[in-house]
Amino acid sequence: MKKVSIIGSGNVGATAALITAKEALGDVVLLDVVQGIPQGKALDLSAAMSLFQSPSKITGTDDYDDISGSDVVVITAGLPRQPGMSRSDLLKKNSAIVTSVVENIVDRCPDAILLIVTNPLDVMTYLAFKKSGLPKNRVLGMGGLLDTSRLRFFIAEAAEVEVERVEAMVIGAHSNDMVPLISLAKIDGKPVSEVLDKEAIEVIKEKTVNGGAKIVSLLKTGSAFYAPGSSAAAMVKAIIRDEKVTIPTCCLTEGEYGFNGIYINLPAIIGGGGVEKIVELEISESERGELNNSAEAIKTSIDELESL
Ligand code: LAC
Repeated sequence: MKKVSIIGSGNVGATAALITAKEALGDVVLLDVVQGIPQGKALDLSAAMSLFQSPSKITGTDDYDDISGSDVVVITAGLPRQPGMSRSDLLKKNSAIVTSVVENIVDRCPDAILLIVTNPLDVMTYLAFKKSGLPKNRVLGMGGLLDTSRLRFFIAEAAEVEVERVEAMVIGAHSNDMVPLISLAKIDGKPVSEVLDKEAIEVIKEKTVNGGAKIVSLLKTGSAFYAPGSSAAAMVKAIIRDEKVTIPTCCLTEGEYGFNGIYINLPAIIGGGGVEKIVELEISESERGELNNSAEAIKTSIDELESL
């Protein structure tokens, strides 16, 4: 059995743990600094496994020694967004948390792939890369897949088709500067612009970009967790099963799409090695412009991080 550790046992961490264990991707260790929560959720999740006939063992702990030798470590620890709070407001608080988490992981899990989920996602993934000293392929972030899950859902909803028939992707920053790639979106292989009118597409884009904030405002306390936890588990699966599938992933750029040294969500082949290759897609001029703006926004956040 592989070993998947999840740092942070809030709603995102617990949802990721549920799906990871249900799919028997490995034994799962749920770690949190808050005594009792990871242990309690692990007990609850363990009972659920009998219903799924999954052999995965789930343990809860507040002791980092228990994550030793993990194959994948998912970092969800950090404060969630509150209503009216931007992802960047979280920068200061969560950078201290992510730094301490990464320091606790590196010696204990020398071979692990780190999957960052904590917001603000792009800059936290960059921070984890810098603090861990790991090769770039082994530090990646989950943002683009979550945004993509929302885009596919909203297209399917507007076109009144099953979501499996929708092919679409969101790249760029995991923020309001995300770039829904409408030019490449398809329903049953047909360009979405041939199925839906301009107005409907604008509404879909708006709903996708504001998807996270809308959920925050409805929930009143905390932010989305089912789609974020499911997206993280899907990436764990791609790594553990060496799927080599293309997933919009927050990854380090070294010239791809003209970017250098920043972490940004781009289509990437995800497999046993983590980020195996960034895929360069033909995107429209206007999307190119939006992607450049997105990268600029990330650079500003990185500068903010480095000036802390
Ligand atoms: C969202 C937050 C969790 O997009 O980033 O829902």
